[in-house]
Amino acid sequence: MHTEQRHEANGTSPAETARLLSSVLLPTVARGAIVRRPMGEALATATGTDHRIVSHLRALRERHGEDPLPLKYAGRRIALVLSAEDVRTLLQGTPDPFSPGGAEKRGALSQFQPHGVLISDQDERTRRRKANEEALVPSRAIHPDASAIAGHADEEARALVAALRNAGTRGGVLDWSRFSESFDALTRRVVFGGFAVGDRETTEMLRTLRARANWSYLFPNSDGLRKRFLERVRENVDRAEPDSLAARLGSPGSAERPEDQVAHWLFAFDAAAIATYRALALLTSSAPAAEAARAEGLDEDGTDLPLLRATLRESVRLWPTTLVVIRESTRQTRWRDTTIDSATSFLVLSAFFHRDSSRLSYADSFEPDIWTDGRADNEPGVLPFSYGPAGCPGRELVPLTVSLFLRSLLRGGAPHRVDDAPPLRSPGMPASLNHFDLRFSYANTSV
Ligand code: HEM
Repeated sequence: MHTEQRHEANGTSPAETARLLSSVLLPTVARGAIVRRPMGEALATATGTDHRIVSHLRALRERHGEDPLPLKYAGRRIALVLSAEDVRTLLQGTPDPFSPGGAEKRGALSQFQPHGVLISDQDERTRRRKANEEALVPSRAIHPDASAIAGHADEEARALVAALRNAGTRGGVLDWSRFSESFDALTRRVVFGGFAVGDRETTEMLRTLRARANWSYLFPNSDGLRKRFLERVRENVDRAEPDSLAARLGSPGSAERPEDQVAHWLFAFDAAAIATYRALALLTSSAPAAEAARAEGLDEDGTDLPLLRATLRESVRLWPTTLVVIRESTRQTRWRDTTIDSATSFLVLSAFFHRDSSRLSYADSFEPDIWTDGRADNEPGVLPFSYGPAGCPGRELVPLTVSLFLRSLLRGGAPHRVDDAPPLRSPGMPASLNHFDLRFSYANTSV
């Protein structure tokens, strides 16, 4: 049939496919799609995977044109998206003809949220999406529970800074492990309320389930652990405090399956932790925009901190936490010169679009202003939280929560980088930033 011949004519050669797999797609899997692995992340940084994604895909676009590029791998149909306009077509054309589900996500996420919105089918998806939107309120930059979130952020940040200072000369250095412990506690507070602050067990159970999710095809679901985890989450949802996110969901056992939605939130806050820690590196850099954002944190009271929210968005744009956004076509689709078969997985590699200097003057700079002057909103290839009907419903809640936490961290003193990596410069932001390696100190600053 025509379509097949076109694939052969316009698609990649076997050698190109092999190169793409080894240099771009497999390293993405090695990093851990569901929970980042320190080894995979270090390898990706050291071998320049992110840098290669940009140069490799740009070369493919020059050679093959702008249409999605079909690849065949292990009997699966895949198409690499190469044009920012096509990203918009895919994300706005969700769920039909571009479904956000797909075998990989289902295999991975069913390990800990079998009824999560992301892997729900049509009717249930609509209901569960609505439940998520009612709780996370993506239509408002300032979530209705912002004051409670600010209180939690202050408490956690203060406890963290105090612990670092008390460690004194015995090593008051903020590393990833210490930071993520605090951020996990903040997550549990925001999701369930203050009573859950010490409930590390829930976080640990989820981490184990997620480690299996990374190998979605290889590990069978662990029904026992998943059941215990979801029961524990359900108990916390039952006790949720009035100004917590979970309190905004239906009752446990309802068709919305609140415990599964909450399981996704807990999982997704991990990406927020990574992005926040990198945002701290941006804020402590000598980039011109960093000073204005720091000043906002020190000077502004209240909950509206647009520059710090934009700093978080810049952190995710420069170093995306969702490496690839996937849509699966529900029928044959027609592009400029190509027709692509039904049941093709379209891969949008965010780093390629976010760092496309042939299109974006700010590609390798830290430029929070793009989030307040409309430049980012008008650019279909900038998708840190994705967009369209299946885009992240946490896209406003996350920057808000993080901006409040960053403000409190800045108010604790003047943190500065003490690791060995080169300082961040704008323009010239590095293609990768391994969050496991970042270290900060509050030493020699006044409170
Ligand atoms: C830095 C932090 C985060 C980033 C970068 C991020 C990004 C994303 C992306 C790219 C998607 C996929 C959208 C798509 O396929 O088009 C997504 C989905 C989703 N995110 Fe987030 N997210 C973050 C944190 C959160 C948090 C903290 C929550 C909840 C509190 C959340 C809730 C969701 C939900 C429920 C979905 C599934 C939406 C659907 O399928 O309709 N996210 N997120």
